[in-house]
Amino acid sequence: MSDAEQLVQLREAVRLSPRNVPLRQALADALLGAGLADEAETEYRAGLLLAPDHAALKLGLARCFSQLGKRSHALVLLEDVVRNPEAPGRAHVLYARLLAGLREVAQAVEQYQTGVRKDPGTADPEFAARLGLRPGRPDPAPTPVGEEAGDFQGEPDFMGGDPEEGRLRASWDGGALEEDDDEDVFDEAEAEVERPKISFVDVGGMETLKEEIRIKIIHPLGHADLYKAYGKAVGGGILLYGPPGCGKTHLARATAGEIRAGVIAVGIHDVLDMWIGNSERNLHSLFGQARRNAPCVLFFDEVDALGASRSDMKTSAGRHLINQFLSELDGAKASNDGVLVLGATNAPWHLDPAFRRPGRFDRILFVPPPDVTARAEVLRVQLRGRPQEDVEFDAVARKTEGFSGADLKAVVDGAIEGKLREALKTGVPAPLRTKDLLQSAATLKPTTREWFATARNYALYANQGGTYDEILKYLKL
Ligand SMILES: Nc1ncnc2c1ncn2[C@@H]1O[C@H](COP(=O)(O)OP(=O)(O)O)[C@@H](O)[C@H]1O
Ligand SMILES: [Mg+2]
Repeated sequence: MSDAEQLVQLREAVRLSPRNVPLRQALADALLGAGLADEAETEYRAGLLLAPDHAALKLGLARCFSQLGKRSHALVLLEDVVRNPEAPGRAHVLYARLLAGLREVAQAVEQYQTGVRKDPGTADPEFAARLGLRPGRPDPAPTPVGEEAGDFQGEPDFMGGDPEEGRLRASWDGGALEEDDDEDVFDEAEAEVERPKISFVDVGGMETLKEEIRIKIIHPLGHADLYKAYGKAVGGGILLYGPPGCGKTHLARATAGEIRAGVIAVGIHDVLDMWIGNSERNLHSLFGQARRNAPCVLFFDEVDALGASRSDMKTSAGRHLINQFLSELDGAKASNDGVLVLGATNAPWHLDPAFRRPGRFDRILFVPPPDVTARAEVLRVQLRGRPQEDVEFDAVARKTEGFSGADLKAVVDGAIEGKLREALKTGVPAPLRTKDLLQSAATLKPTTREWFATARNYALYANQGGTYDEILKYLKL
């Protein structure tokens, strides 16, 4: 049977028996063997949905990622696979190759040696030589001593200096695969520079916060020369934090509109994409693009996804991305060129502390739940274009202390539903009144309380450098 025929049969078998894991693995392996890494990826993923801890499926998926150039994604997965003492030798060797690409040489050597010890068939003298291991001695004692300890000589140059400059060649199962050093691959992936149409007039209330933003952001950018004359840097990073649904994203956009700067918005999905290795280089090109468009606001929404300090994110891939982000941030400061980096997060305590060093996100602003003026404004916006009569927005705002923007939306939705039910009975649509909104509000609780319960603990017990003083002030503690 030819390979092609075998693929047809395996596909058919999987179609008939979609929950059969070994079958799916066989299909995925065959696809990968046939060089169809994309399709293989889909099958491995489907298999892992059925058997989440299946080591061979994970290894297969990691091989797909590696072949598809999704290096970080492969790293995250392999880090998990090799933790299992039963992991096959080739998993360690593949991991070693990816680590070498990151110049994590010591770790790469360790993984390579473990792999070859488990499965001598995985030895690759050329790769070993690049790791600084002497030919003919691919398998030194587990803890090299004396002479052997010198096997690793300095840090070899993986990415440049050799004839295959910029490339890390990896061979796997005899099939050679080449991984481009993706330096230039994403340079064309230019993000959109928006010109936000909203400014501070669209942000209801929050006067203190607006004033703070004027002093810390808008004046320095607008009078860059003056600030430079006094030796003060313009640009850098500012972090907005606070409970969800309370206007961080709204405020960041309004700030960009207020400066009349362009804004490049990087959302959670872009960030996660970088995380799983689809577009690490994009980070560099994003910063480059912001510099070219200065004055420009580079806005990272939900930035904690990028700089998480949670232990599950402490992987090589994650560290790599975080380090890259930090060095770009430092660059934005060094070139002092009117790039303002704004970040927003609901969970500042999940941010790696390195993010808050001077010149990075060193200015951190608390965005509290909307005050009474902001609440009235949010309600007004929500009711625009709906049938209404004499709604006293201020009265409703006063009765919705602690409600987020999203909570207020729920108040309006509830009131409208009540009206609809009535209208269905009477057949006459009646306009919304103050009473309807108040009734709806009375049935709802502000969702910000839960956030404050968490925030309070960080403010009380992990308030290094007074980072969370504003929370204490807000809670009157
Ligand atoms: N001060 C405000 N003025 C006007 N609209 C607001 C204000 N604060 C919040 N909103 C609205 O509330 C909703 C939630 O705000 P958003 O910025 O998405 O919150 P966050 O980013 O903090 O989760 C949005 O529809 C936003 O327009
Ligand atoms: Mg938001």
